[in-house]
Amino acid sequence: MGKSYLLISGKGGVGKSTLAAALAVTAARQGSRVALVDGDIGLRSLDLLLHLQDKVLYDLKDLVEHRCTLDQALIWHDEFKNLCLIVGGQQAKPKDFQKKDLQKVVRTLTRRFDLVLVDGPAGLGRGVNNFTNIVDEVLLVLTPDPVSIRSAEKLANQLYAAGLRPSMILNRVNKELVYSGAVPQPNVIASSLDLPLLGVIEESPLIYQALLNGKTAAQTEDENITASFEALLRAVNGDLEPVPDFKKTHKSLFQRIRDWLKD
Ligand SMILES: Nc1ncnc2c1ncn2[C@@H]1O[C@H](COP(=O)(O)OP(=O)(O)OP(=O)(O)O)[C@@H](O)[C@H]1O
Ligand SMILES: [Mg+2]
Repeated sequence: MGKSYLLISGKGGVGKSTLAAALAVTAARQGSRVALVDGDIGLRSLDLLLHLQDKVLYDLKDLVEHRCTLDQALIWHDEFKNLCLIVGGQQAKPKDFQKKDLQKVVRTLTRRFDLVLVDGPAGLGRGVNNFTNIVDEVLLVLTPDPVSIRSAEKLANQLYAAGLRPSMILNRVNKELVYSGAVPQPNVIASSLDLPLLGVIEESPLIYQALLNGKTAAQTEDENITASFEALLRAVNGDLEPVPDFKKTHKSLFQRIRDWLKD
């Protein structure tokens, strides 16, 4: 039996879909069977992030309304053969879905896949409520900007009131701003929100570049980014290691020349 996760955020555009696609690719590379569900009903994006847009025939609405079978709704990735996607209906609305139908879909998927990732919409509307309580864990994505932090706090309080215990992922962290003190250390942000910190992904232009090339954030050439997704996946899978603070390393002249030659 696999595990299911829902990625949500208070504020939009913080990287939920980027992280869902990258975690899926990271897990698929390690041999896990992975199903991604685009739960951002009406605003799907995972088909584009995984370069599967030309293969979409059926969506989640077709599935719950029995216009297709589960196997017909699964869109398999060309490169990662153990990774597939179910898209949310482009014309559908969150109110078109009954929780029990979505629960059935998620349950069936966890029987067939090791990892089921549902990419949710921003905010705490019907779109998110459709999926809370029917997944094993809720992952709250935020960036270190004050608006995102405040909206994450509000969302976390609402989830707590509903009996849910989310964990957080901090995305788009700019190392230099942390060094300069303009942005707090990720652990400080996590303790101010009183949420377990699963991982930190740095801000990188390579992530946007990967997107333009039809690749996910886990497929940049940067080993550090790949390693941070691997660490995040371990934490998501329950192997929670403390996230180290960002510390500026003072490199010797020899190290700097070696790095320069490597570039
Ligand atoms: N770590 C990062 N570094 C640089 N760019 C990033 C990073 N994470 C995400 N982005 C960029 O941020 C933008 C928004 O990301 P994404 O669509 O994944 O956010 P989202 O939370 O799913 O948005 P929405 O709420 O609209 O669904 C994209 O252009 C993506 O490439
Ligand atoms: Mg999204």
